[in-house]
Amino acid sequence: MLNREFVLSFREAAPYINAFRGKTFVLAVSGEAVMEGGFSKLSQDINLLVSLGVRVVLVHGIRPQIEALLKRFGIARMFHSDRRVTDANTMDIVKQAAGATRYEIEAQLSMGMHNSPMHGAHLRVAGGNFITAQPLGVLDGVDMQYTGQVRRIDTEAIRTRLEAGELVLLSPVGFSLTGEAFNLTMEEMAAQLASALKAEKLIFVIEGRGVVNPEGEFVSTLTAQQAENLLKAGHLQRDVTAYLPYAVKATRDGIPRAHLVSHHEDGSLLSELFTSGGTGTMIARDALVKVRTATIDDIGSILNIVRPLEEKGILVRRSREHLEMDIARYSVLEHDGKIYGCVAMHPFPEAGMAELACLAVSSEKREHGFGESLLHHVEYKARTQGLKALFVLTTQTAHWFIERGFAEADRATLPMAKQAFYNHQRRSKIFVKPL
Ligand code: ARG
Repeated sequence: MLNREFVLSFREAAPYINAFRGKTFVLAVSGEAVMEGGFSKLSQDINLLVSLGVRVVLVHGIRPQIEALLKRFGIARMFHSDRRVTDANTMDIVKQAAGATRYEIEAQLSMGMHNSPMHGAHLRVAGGNFITAQPLGVLDGVDMQYTGQVRRIDTEAIRTRLEAGELVLLSPVGFSLTGEAFNLTMEEMAAQLASALKAEKLIFVIEGRGVVNPEGEFVSTLTAQQAENLLKAGHLQRDVTAYLPYAVKATRDGIPRAHLVSHHEDGSLLSELFTSGGTGTMIARDALVKVRTATIDDIGSILNIVRPLEEKGILVRRSREHLEMDIARYSVLEHDGKIYGCVAMHPFPEAGMAELACLAVSSEKREHGFGESLLHHVEYKARTQGLKALFVLTTQTAHWFIERGFAEADRATLPMAKQAFYNHQRRSKIFVKPL
């Protein structure tokens, strides 16, 4: 039986598949995600990403693994301002934790049974001394010993691996020029890798679904600024507080998008990447919604949006030719590169007014405030042209305009040129908004 939903989802994914091919994603997986056995499903999805031509750098955490080993060996944990103080004994534990976790991940990524999605994928995993580290040093009089920070990233070597189609797997351990190993934090390393490699995305696979604001609402998309404000206000989940600052930093460094996705929800990585709404939280460098002047190339999209409304009589029918001639007066609203709305503005400078026309939003994106964005855009445009009022002729959507500051007016308020063309059959009502 034909599965309609599958077909639609696959089509929704297509532009993302094309956009991601050949791009570098830094994927940071918390130690918890590996420990709790959640990695086996995730490894299949990572495999799928690589097979679609995404260049994956995978960084894993080892915090809970270190904790478990310290406990087993009866070694006390030491912290100074949220960073572990790594003495020689602890560093031994760090190496054990990193080694064991890394092998666990490599094993999962190598799975290829006939009945698994990874059958035939033959993913190759690369690793090595790509991260040069240096000691963090003495902080407030506390010698951090083998706790280190990233000093240099061998991007050349990593790129060569990625170009060969291999996945690069990195543990949070770096090596110094003196031949010692240092304990690094996974999130810091991942953010630095993303910047150094000019990655397309930095993705944190964490405990929760993503950001839940203090009002208890899940937040799907944030700008870097909004994320910073939320962090400042506090009251976020523990894992979000730990990872969100690095996601913000990465977008500030020029990474277009950083994401937080849950390792508890099977498939959350795929649905975050290959649907337009995602399932996690995305921190975007650029605003996702853009209103801009339309061009000839937008005519197909505009027609798709307005035709259904014309058929219902909500909008007056416009021919393609008419649109082509008038295209400079149209603006379109884009969300993530796809057009979901349009509006036209016809100025009547002699009357100090402009007509707002053809305001339409495609049915799948109603209630996103896109209509408002288009209205604001036209108001702004009219103001910058020194116009004093907007008017709109409508038969069925009067209320929408009244709620947004328009008031009914009679025909005499219209510019003369417009009065001459008033359609007596349509008998539209006239609404005016002073600017
Ligand atoms: N799939 C797109 C991407 O990976 C959009 C994801 C949107 N996600 C979100 N949480 N709002 O870039």
